[in-house]
Amino acid sequence: VQAELEMVKALLSGDRRVVVLTGAGVSAESGVPTFRGRDGLWKHYRAEDLARPDAFAAHPELVWEFYNWRRRLVADCRPNPAHRALAAMERQIRNFLLITQNVDGLHVRAGSRKMVEMHGSLWQVRCTVCTHAREDFSELPELPDCPVCGHLLRPGVVWFGEPLTPGVLKLAIEQIGKADVFLSVGTSNMVQPAASFYQLAKDHGAVTVEINAEPTPNTGFMDFALHGPAGEILPELAAGLAE
Ligand code: NAD
Ligand code: APR
Repeated sequence: VQAELEMVKALLSGDRRVVVLTGAGVSAESGVPTFRGRDGLWKHYRAEDLARPDAFAAHPELVWEFYNWRRRLVADCRPNPAHRALAAMERQIRNFLLITQNVDGLHVRAGSRKMVEMHGSLWQVRCTVCTHAREDFSELPELPDCPVCGHLLRPGVVWFGEPLTPGVLKLAIEQIGKADVFLSVGTSNMVQPAASFYQLAKDHGAVTVEINAEPTPNTGFMDFALHGPAGEILPELAAGLAE
C-alpha cells in the first residue's frame, strides 16, 4: 500500500492536470452520514419518498423536513483532513478541478474554490415556479415560500430522475477529457453519470486512482486503488506535493 501511495504521490507532482471526483465518503469522517454504507441514509429512509421530484410534489413538508434535518446536521459538522487536503492540492496543482457529488458544502468551507457541486447544495434554495434562487444558511420554515412570486421554494439539489444543472456535465466531460490523473474518492459509484467518469478519463489516457474505505464496482478498472480512510490517505498525498 505504501508503495502504491508513493507512486500516486509521484503522479500528482509535476505539471499535471488533475480531476478529483468525490462522494459522501469524504464527509464521513466529519460525521455526515453516507447514503449506502452500513448506516447509510438510504438504509433508514427511502430515496423514492424523499429525493425525487414526484415525492416533493406529493409531500413537500416531508421532503423539506428531511432537508432541514440534513441542513442542521451538516451545520454542526466541520470539514475534516480529507476536505482540507483537497483544498491544499488545489493550491499546489495549477490545472485542478474538484467535482463533488456532495451537497453538504464542506469542500467550500474547507477552502476549495476550483470545484463544482454537481448535485447542488443543501445551502441553495430555489423557487419551484419562477427563477428566484439564493444561498441561504438560515433556519427555514417547514414550507418556505418565494419572496418574489410567493410560490413554494425547493432545495437546490438534483434529485433522482432530474437532469444535472446545464453546463455541469459539459464542464466535467471537457476537463476529464484533458486530465492526466483522475482521482475518485469516497464514492460507491452507484449513481450515474458520476460513476462513469473514470471511463471518460481512461478513454483519454488518464491514470485513474480510487481512494475508498472499501472496494467499489469500479475498483478493478482503476490503475491504482488505495483502500482506507480518505482523511488519512489524502493528507499523505497532499503533503507529498508541498515537499
Ligand atoms: P439517473 O441515474 O438517470 O439520475 C438522474 C440524475 O440525477 C443524474 O444526473 C444523477 O447524477 C442525479 N441524481 C440521482 N440521484 C440523485 C440524488 N439523490 N441527489 C442528487 N443527484 C442525484 O436516475 P436514477 O435511475 O434515478 O438513479 C440511478 C442510480 O441510483 C441507480 O443505480 C439506482 O439503482 C440508484 N438509486 C435510485 C433510486 C431512485 O429512487 N431512483 C433510489 C436509490 C438508488
Ligand atoms: N474514507 C473513504 N471512503 C469512505 C469513508 C472514508 N472515511 N467512509 C465511507 N467511504 C466510502 C464507502 O465505502 C462508499 O463507497 O464512501 C462511499 C460512499 O458511498 P455512497 O454513500 O453511495 O455515496 P455517494 O457515492 O456519494 O452517493 C452518490 O447518491 O443518493 C445520491 O445524491 C446522493 O450524491 C449522492 C449520490
